[in-house]
Amino acid sequence: MSEEQYAVETHGLGKIYGGKVHALKAVDLKVPLGSAFGLLGPNGAGKSTLVKTLLSIVRPTAGFATLLGVDIEQPAARRHVGYLPEGHRFPAYLTGRGVCEYFGKLSGLTGSSLAREVDEKLELVGMREWASTRVSKYSKGMQQRVGLAQAMLGKPQLVFLDEPTDGVDPVGRQQIRAVIQQLRASGTTVFLNSHLLLEVEQICSHVAIMHHGSVLRQGTLEEIRDAVRGEGTRRRVRFGVGPVGDAARAELAALAPIEAEEPGSLTIGVERRELVPRLIDALRAHGVDVYSVEPERMNLEDAFIGVIGQQDDQGVGGTQLSRVAS
Ligand SMILES: Nc1ncnc2c1ncn2[C@@H]1O[C@H](COP(=O)(O)OP(=O)(O)OP(=O)(O)O)[C@@H](O)[C@H]1O
Ligand SMILES: [Mg+2]
Repeated sequence: MSEEQYAVETHGLGKIYGGKVHALKAVDLKVPLGSAFGLLGPNGAGKSTLVKTLLSIVRPTAGFATLLGVDIEQPAARRHVGYLPEGHRFPAYLTGRGVCEYFGKLSGLTGSSLAREVDEKLELVGMREWASTRVSKYSKGMQQRVGLAQAMLGKPQLVFLDEPTDGVDPVGRQQIRAVIQQLRASGTTVFLNSHLLLEVEQICSHVAIMHHGSVLRQGTLEEIRDAVRGEGTRRRVRFGVGPVGDAARAELAALAPIEAEEPGSLTIGVERRELVPRLIDALRAHGVDVYSVEPERMNLEDAFIGVIGQQDDQGVGGTQLSRVAS
C-alpha cells in the first residue's frame, strides 16, 4: 500500500480487450491529493477504460493501482469515491430526486441525512426545482447535472467525472465548472476525463495527455506547456504599434523574424527575452509609437497538439515516449 499522498496511483496498468485491443499500455499515473486532474486525449485514447479499470468495472490485464492509498482490488478503495459515468442512462421512470436517493443509499446514506444531502446536491447543480420531474422529461444537460449531483453524495474524497459537460449548453457548462471548483475548494480530488481542452485548462491544476492507450505527458499545466515548448523554442511577441515604415521593418527583420503583420500590430518571433527591449529601441529609433507588448501565451491546445503530433511524427503508439513530469 502506498503512502496516501496521491488520490490515484497506477503502475504499469494495462488493458487488452478481447485479446487484441490494447486500450491501456503500461500506464503510470500519479494524481496528487486535492488536485483537479484532467485526463486529455482524442476519441479512443483509453480515458474511459482507465477510469473504469480504477473503479473495477473493467479488469486490468497488467499492473496495479491504488485509490486513496488502497489497492483497487479491495472494495474499500471505492468507499470514498464518486463517479459520473460517460453516456450514463438513469431509469427513465425515476425522478431526479429518486436517482439521487438510489445512489445515496448505495453510498450508505439513510433517513434525514440522505434527504438533506440529496436536496443540497440538487440545489448545487441547479436542479432542485426539477427534483420531482421524471428523468424521461430531462434534457441531456439536465441528466448530466443530476449525474453530477449523485456523484457528489456521501462526501467523496475523490470524484471521477467522465466527460461531465457532454451535451451541455454553454450556460450549463459554466454551472458545472463552478460546481467542480466548489468541490475542489472543499478538498475533494477531481479526476476529469475530457477531450475539451479549454475546459481542462479552465478547471484543472494537473493534466495528463493520453494517446493510443499511453500517457505521453503528465504534470502541472505549466509543466506540460514547458515540456512542449522546449528550451530555445521561439516565442511570439505581439507589439501594438503605430505605422511602421520600410526602414523600421528592415531593422526589425535583421534582429528577429516578423511572423505576422496587421495594421496596428506586429508579431515577432523572439528567441531570447533580451531581444524585446532591443526591438522596442529599434522601433522608437524610427519614430514608431509602441502601445503594447504582449508575449503570446501558449495554450493547452497548442501543447496537446504538440504532444500528439510529436508522437504521430515518430509513428509509434508505444510507451517509449512517456515522460513523467510530476
Ligand atoms: N468493451 C470494450 N470491448 C472492446 N474494445 C473496447 C471496449 N471499450 C473500449 N474499447 C476500445 O478501447 C479503446 C479505448 O476506448 P475508450 O472508450 O477507453 O476511449 P476514450 O479515450 O474514453 O474515448 P472517448 O473520448 O471517445 O470517450 C478504443 O479503441 C475502444 O474502441
Ligand atoms: Mg471515453
